[in-house]
Parts: sequence; C-alpha cells; structure tokens
Amino acid sequence: MRILVTGGAGRLGRSTLSTLEAAGHEVVSIDRATAPGFTGRQLDIDLAHPTAFADLVAAEAPDAIVHLAAIAVPFSAPEADILSTNSRLAFTVLDAARQHGVARVLAASSPTVIGYGSPTGWRPDYLPLDERHPARPWNAYALSKQLVENTVAMFARQATSTIFGAFRPCFVISPGEWAGEPTQQGHTVVDRLNDPSLAAVSLFNYVDARDAADFVLAWVERAGAAENGEVFFVGADDALALDSLDRLLPYPEAAALTGTAPAFSSRHAAERLGWAPTRSWRTELAPGQRALLRSPDHARPTTDHRPATESSHP
Ligand SMILES: NC(=O)c1ccc[n+]([C@@H]2O[C@H](COP(=O)([O-])OP(=O)(O)OC[C@H]3O[C@@H](n4cnc5c(N)ncnc54)[C@H](O)[C@@H]3O)[C@@H](O)[C@H]2O)c1
Repeated sequence: MRILVTGGAGRLGRSTLSTLEAAGHEVVSIDRATAPGFTGRQLDIDLAHPTAFADLVAAEAPDAIVHLAAIAVPFSAPEADILSTNSRLAFTVLDAARQHGVARVLAASSPTVIGYGSPTGWRPDYLPLDERHPARPWNAYALSKQLVENTVAMFARQATSTIFGAFRPCFVISPGEWAGEPTQQGHTVVDRLNDPSLAAVSLFNYVDARDAADFVLAWVERAGAAENGEVFFVGADDALALDSLDRLLPYPEAAALTGTAPAFSSRHAAERLGWAPTRSWRTELAPGQRALLRSPDHARPTTDHRPATESSHP
C-alpha cells in the first residue's frame, strides 16, 4: 500500500514510518520537520495550509492515511491554539481523504479524552478503562482529541468508500527514551518510575512507540475487521509503576488492579485486530537506567495523586 503519514517526524511518527516501511509498504512522511534516518520520501507541507494537503492527496492517490500531526502536549501552547490547530488539522486531513476516496484513514486521539487529572476531581466509573467509558475532557488538548474522534465518526457516517478509525495511544515512549533521553514531559522514564506523582496524572499509562506503530500497521492492514469510525485504546499490558495500582490509585475501583495490571485495557484492539503490545518497561529499560531505579521494596503506597498540574499528559 502507499501510505501517507502526517507528523512522521514526531515521537510516534518515526516508529510508524519505519514499522510500515519494514512491512513492505510505500510510506511518505508529511511534516514540517524532517524524520532523521528515514530513507523514504519526506514532504515538507504545512497542514494548516487550506489546500496543500488535498492537492497532495489528489497527486499521490494513497491507499491509506495515518494522521498523527498535532500539538501533542497539553498546555504547550495557548488553549485556543491547541483546540483550533488540532481540530482543524484533523478536519483538513480527513476531508481531503474523503474527497479523494482514500480507502483507509486512521487518526491519533488520546486517552486524555477520558478526563482524568481534572482539578475539580475525577473518578472512574470503573477500572480498567476501556472504550465504553464516558469521555469528560477538561482541557483544550483533550477536547481537541474528542473533536478528532467526533470528526472521524462524522466522516464515517457519510463515507461510502473510506474506513475511518481513531486510536488513543497511551504515554508514548520512544526507543531512545528507554536509554535515558527525556520523555515528552522532560523527565526520564526512570524519574517517572521513581516518583509516582509524575505518572499518576495519567494513571500510570504508557506504550512503547514501536508497539503503537505495530497497532497502526495492524489497523491499516486489517481495517476491514473494524467498524467504520471505531476508537481503540493502545497501551502496554502493565502499568508504568514500581508498585501495584491498587496501592497507588486512590479509587476503590482500583482494588482489582493488583500485580502489574494497568488502568487501561487494550483488549478491544486485540479482539478486533489481533494487536497486542509485546514490550514492557521491564523488558525495554536499558541496564544503565535500570540501575537508577529505587527498589520496588521501597515503593510506598500513596494516598492521592490527583494532581492537576497543567503539564500532565496524556
Ligand atoms: N506522545 C504521546 O504520549 C501521545 C499520547 C497520546 C496521543 N498522542 C497523539 O499522537 C500524535 C503523535 O504524537 P507525538 O508524540 O509523535 O507528537 P510530536 O509532537 O512528537 O510529533 C508531531 C509532529 O507533527 C508535526 N506537525 C505539527 N503541526 C504540523 C503542521 N501544521 N503541518 C505539518 N506537520 C505538523 C510536527 O512537526 C511533529 O513532527 C499526536 O496527535 C498526539 O496528540 C501522543
């Protein structure tokens, strides 16, 4: 398949380019930035331009589009800019795909749509969270991602020849970050493990970037197995924590999250698409980083990590 990937130079985009290419697809990266090490075609296009992407789709006639480009960090720009940029970029890309009859279109949403971390308090209806849980976004980033999902659903309702989908990757950790590079939030994975307050804001969710890219591959190749407009959580099979979530999360609903169980379920993606994560922080953390971990024996149960700092993601 010929596949256009918007945001190909990003944290998730780089793994997506290499995974799709390794599977034998012809991959074109669309980004204002350059993806280092990617030898396929890279086109410098600003998706905020009203017609540039539609012209490109007409010229390239891709079989699939994967839309990742966005302002990817909450509160990293003025709220109004995040809302307008992310929702407009998604509409531009999906509308161009519909106009030109692209067969498969997948867009990145975020688990933040669920609403955890709200400064006025949030409590899960149940745990682990799955796609049936109500979305209650409390900031412009999360709202923009709910709009992305609604845009996917809207186009799915009018599509006759296109399958649309959305996925919610958990906190994405790229290969370099397992070796100590800073994560999206500026701290390292080890910092996040050693200080539970850092990951509590996202209920200790995460996913290896290559596992998320494997999900993209599975969706693109097997989209026919999904319903049009369907949404998927994409997370690791364990929590990014040294202690168990029944001890770390302040909700009675977390009582069943013993051992390494995560707060998010990716079972739907497994059932529909046959995708499952294969990597864990326990297998991926570089030895030098592992040596910096405080002992799990020293992990203390915490009372309330509901945070509400404005830097939390996802
Ligand atoms: N990283 C995470 O933990 C995470 C979690 C949940 C959802 N997501 C979503 O997944 C997607 C990818 O995230 P990421 O971490 O790789 O983000 P990133 O910031 O690393 O990459 C985004 C890319 O989009 C490009 N881009 C932004 N605006 C553009 C425009 N107008 N025209 C062309 N290119 C543009 C940027 O240059 C960048 O390379 C985003 O939609 C993000 O919201 C990310």
